[in-house]
Amino acid sequence: MSPNAPARVLVASNRGPVSFRAEDDGSLSVHRGGGGLVSGLSAAGQGTGAVWVCAALSDPDRTAARESPSGRIDLAGHDTGGLAVRLLDIDPGTFARAYNAIANSTLWFIHHLLYDTATKPVFDGRFRKEWTSYDAYNAAFAQALAAEAGEGAKVVVQDYHLTLTPLILRRLRPDLRIGHFSHTPWAPPDYFRLLPDDISRAVLEGILGADHAGFLTRRWASSFLDCCEQVLGADVDRAAMTVTHEGRRTQVAVHALGADADFLRERAARPDVEARLATLRDAVGDRKVVVRVDRTELSKNIVRGLLAYRDLLRGRPEWHGRVVHIAFAYPSRHDLPEYREYTAAVQRIAKEIDDEFGDDTWQPLMLHVNDDFPRSLAAYRLADVALVNPIRDGMNLVAKEIPVVSEHGCALVLSREAGAYEELGSDAVVVNPFDVTATSEALHEALSMDAGERRARTKKLAAAATALSPQQWFLDQLDALD
Ligand code: G6P
Repeated sequence: MSPNAPARVLVASNRGPVSFRAEDDGSLSVHRGGGGLVSGLSAAGQGTGAVWVCAALSDPDRTAARESPSGRIDLAGHDTGGLAVRLLDIDPGTFARAYNAIANSTLWFIHHLLYDTATKPVFDGRFRKEWTSYDAYNAAFAQALAAEAGEGAKVVVQDYHLTLTPLILRRLRPDLRIGHFSHTPWAPPDYFRLLPDDISRAVLEGILGADHAGFLTRRWASSFLDCCEQVLGADVDRAAMTVTHEGRRTQVAVHALGADADFLRERAARPDVEARLATLRDAVGDRKVVVRVDRTELSKNIVRGLLAYRDLLRGRPEWHGRVVHIAFAYPSRHDLPEYREYTAAVQRIAKEIDDEFGDDTWQPLMLHVNDDFPRSLAAYRLADVALVNPIRDGMNLVAKEIPVVSEHGCALVLSREAGAYEELGSDAVVVNPFDVTATSEALHEALSMDAGERRARTKKLAAAATALSPQQWFLDQLDALD
């Protein structure tokens, strides 16, 4: 296939499947990112000349984008099945306003209900400037997709960074089949309405520019339908899950992304994971282990999780010396002050727990804040209890991954506000994530669960967690566009 042949299948997302790094000798090296979407597209894109359009996120990415005269970077030889990447070199100021101010500080906050509404949000002149950048960034994606796509091609646009792209693209290229997929929750109408009226309409109409709008759970899809009806006044058919607005119809659907069982099992058995497992085992001894693994995002509720663990140790001294909590809280979005403050709060309470209960013979809490994927897999293998207690979460793949990898069965303490609750709730110990006392009781119940029951539940959790592989999830999105 010629390097710039029109693509039949295109994906658009802010963060792409590869990133570039500047080496000491001045050359650029390319690194493939993990995640189901990469493997899904690699499988689906074999031989189709699929193109992935994404933003250049760093200076080396921008250099790579400029050095590729056709705009496409061929990833043949990088185990991505003939996939090519088109990196968009967007002005850094425009990018920062679109990504930090709108996507992460506004839309993310809206969908996860994160505002302290007594004082925030404030929509003023500065917000308008940020919104203009978000619009320009979405338009840049639409233009690149329009330029790359062959006649009648399928385009799947991912997530809250790119809510306006489907409509802009439809106007540029009415022949295309366009899908949009939201990986986050969707806010209920009363909360979604915090956005200025023209902005809330633009977001909904942007997504409705697609033929197909996908969500991770029924709950988020249903909130989207509610917003279309109540905020936009669109015609919503709940049985058929369609929205008709300004003469066009969009199909809404649920695709519950699952864990990648084959990848996880193979990866978790490699020597680097074994080595980390041995280190963790040495530190933990024969104590029970409560594991959590999160990016340090405000929605993950790490602070209340630690408060619940402290409550357990205060209220049930029988666990002293018999349990260790391994908490991995990896860095995320450190350009945002709220995230930096939240990370500091996590570290503060971890220290308080250590001061209150730790001694020469027992370290009750092991907190790590530096990212290490093989160490996470080692903790998954070791876990007796997994704590997944987000305030609100699109899906939460950790809840799905731990049961797959766990060695001797793992009780799952799961927030009813995580998307994964729809599929895993019946075999988990379910909590209201705001109720610290109830979460502490749930930890006690999970730690006390008998081994046979734990194993039986883990088996069912793993089966539900892997029901829809990332590859199939991606293919379903493409099929839905037929
Ligand atoms: C989480 C969300 C995804 C989102 C991603 C962006 O993983 O579940 O919906 O795309 O964050 O993260 P980033 O690091 O690119 O801001």
